[in-house]
Amino acid sequence: MRIVLLGAPGSGKGTQAANLVEKYGITHLSTGDMLRSEVSAGTPLGLEAKKIMEAGQLVSDEIVLGMIKNKIESLTGGFLLDGFPRNLNQAEALDELLGGLKKPLEKVIFFDVSFDVIKERLLARGRSDDNAETIEERRKVYESETAPLINYYTKQGKLVTVEGVGDVNEISQRIFKALD
Ligand code: AP5
Ligand code: MG
Repeated sequence: MRIVLLGAPGSGKGTQAANLVEKYGITHLSTGDMLRSEVSAGTPLGLEAKKIMEAGQLVSDEIVLGMIKNKIESLTGGFLLDGFPRNLNQAEALDELLGGLKKPLEKVIFFDVSFDVIKERLLARGRSDDNAETIEERRKVYESETAPLINYYTKQGKLVTVEGVGDVNEISQRIFKALD
């Protein structure tokens, strides 16, 4: 199974990824998690990414594509992408990479959650990029850069929309239903 979880910051991608990985035995690839481990390890890449992440902006495509490419190429089984792709350029690069490997994406799950709910969730969590100012910036970046992917994957016939509000396990059941 090769899927993408698409949704605004705080829509529940990471939370649902855990349940999907457990059920389907696929690999979880989160560019946000990869970047955060570079930051905690204090690598040059991490140092470059830290400020951008704390400002709620997107890290450069070059960095992100470089990070994800090797991981995808070295995988043998299925995978779940979380937080990637995040703009059209990344989506096209992914299609090209997977096309070359003859392993195209199968489905894209879009989490439908309102920004009021998201804001409440993120303020309650308190990651270093979960302050009111950065949340608003991430929202704007999402609207302009990432939301166009809804249309991109709809045109490919791969998008499935899941209502992302409510009990975590109930949302997982909705996703399982969409995938089975
Ligand atoms: P990333 O780590 O991807 O963060 P994000 O997109 O901002 O999303 P979050 O991880 O905050 O939310 P989520 O959808 O995973 O929701 P979660 O399950 O955690 O990216 C961080 C930064 O890295 C970016 O801003 C950018 O700078 C950089 N970056 C990453 N990828 C990049 C890329 N491809 N290109 C360029 N830059 C990139 O849930 C959120 C909270 O809600 C949690 O506390 C959770 O417990 C709670 N929650 C979840 N579901 C429910 C529910 N059903 N009910 C109640 N609470 C819930
Ligand atoms: Mg996440």
